[in-house]
Amino acid sequence: MKVAVLKETQPRERRVALVPDSVQRLVKAGHAVVVEAGAGVAAGFPDATYTAAGATLAADAVGTLAGADVVAMVQKPTAVQAAQLAAGQVLVAMLQPAQSADLFATLAQRQVTALALERVPRITRAQSMDVLSSQATVAGYKAVLLGATALPRFLPMLTTAAGNITPAKAFVLGAGVAGLQAIATARRLGAVVSAFDVRAAAREQVQSLGAKFVASDLVSAGAETAGGYAKEQGQDEQARTLAAIGAAIPEMDLVISTAAIPGKPAPRLVTEAMLATMKPGSVIVDVSAETGGNCEVTKPGETVEVHGVTVLGPLNLPSLAPYHASQMFSRNVLTLLQHLAPKDQPLTIDLTDEITGAMTVVHAGQVR
Ligand code: NAI
Repeated sequence: MKVAVLKETQPRERRVALVPDSVQRLVKAGHAVVVEAGAGVAAGFPDATYTAAGATLAADAVGTLAGADVVAMVQKPTAVQAAQLAAGQVLVAMLQPAQSADLFATLAQRQVTALALERVPRITRAQSMDVLSSQATVAGYKAVLLGATALPRFLPMLTTAAGNITPAKAFVLGAGVAGLQAIATARRLGAVVSAFDVRAAAREQVQSLGAKFVASDLVSAGAETAGGYAKEQGQDEQARTLAAIGAAIPEMDLVISTAAIPGKPAPRLVTEAMLATMKPGSVIVDVSAETGGNCEVTKPGETVEVHGVTVLGPLNLPSLAPYHASQMFSRNVLTLLQHLAPKDQPLTIDLTDEITGAMTVVHAGQVR
């Protein structure tokens, strides 16, 4: 199997799909890897680290793609890159299936097979291929650091000759993968942390990290789908959620919001009226900015100040820690490639396989 690693071209993208460690493992297993020159530079992996791992370098995308069986990317290809893919090639990337109808039509027409990394089923067997989890871990961590930097105060309690400092209070909304990492990070920095989620299962996870669980009186097993995700709330549930958050938020210094519903806009959890009840200088980091934001005033990609509260709407948080985000992403991709082409077996797209079938969005000229 010949694997091509393209240089990312989307704005703000600093990650790379495969890092030298994974390249080395592929080469050791008898595969060939071609890397577009400079593909890993922004993530901290210069070209020489790839050649040392056994990869070949190509000067441009066309040279990288020539003869490749699999093409690994972080973000979906641009129209130009998609037009360079050849029949029979297998593209593996975060393809944003809900917003990629044109791209998928092009790929189908070009007889390219495409696997969307976001579609990995959330089953134990596929956990090591799950880029949503690995990248959410980076996002949750980085969100707390951005918030800590924007705050006009310390996070930890300090006892000093210049007086005692009380710890900051952090509030994490949505205790999924990103939220749990945000809780852990804020705790490590010394904040007193509370967290809110609609899923009853989140309570134990939040508490096991040493944070207080805040819930509305409606938190129940019914808030969760069979797949473990939260359901969209009805009007009554939404009102109770807002009441529970609104009661807790005035005393918070830092709010990290990560709540999401797969395939839907982010749920609105912080209203402008709530900001007016917060202390001046408080900070909200809206990790859900890309899907519309959990906070009513969030502007994706911008920082705004409303009622004295600073609201950050960062985009592509994992790309702000590109070295480890790439390392984790790469391990996910490597495990998927090992799944598609097990030792000494050819690359196979088996649509009856639970993992491959769920992830394959374009195959044999059809958009699935
Ligand atoms: P996500 O990114 O879809 O959502 C983040 C969080 O927001 C979730 O905890 C969700 O309950 C919460 N949320 C949604 N609506 C809300 C609202 N109105 N108010 C407050 N919170 C709200 O979820 P993520 O992080 O992808 O994980 C979802 C679940 O999947 C978790 O239980 C996680 O442990 C599980 N999971 C399982 C995996 C596996 O078995 N392989 C891998 C990764 C996650």
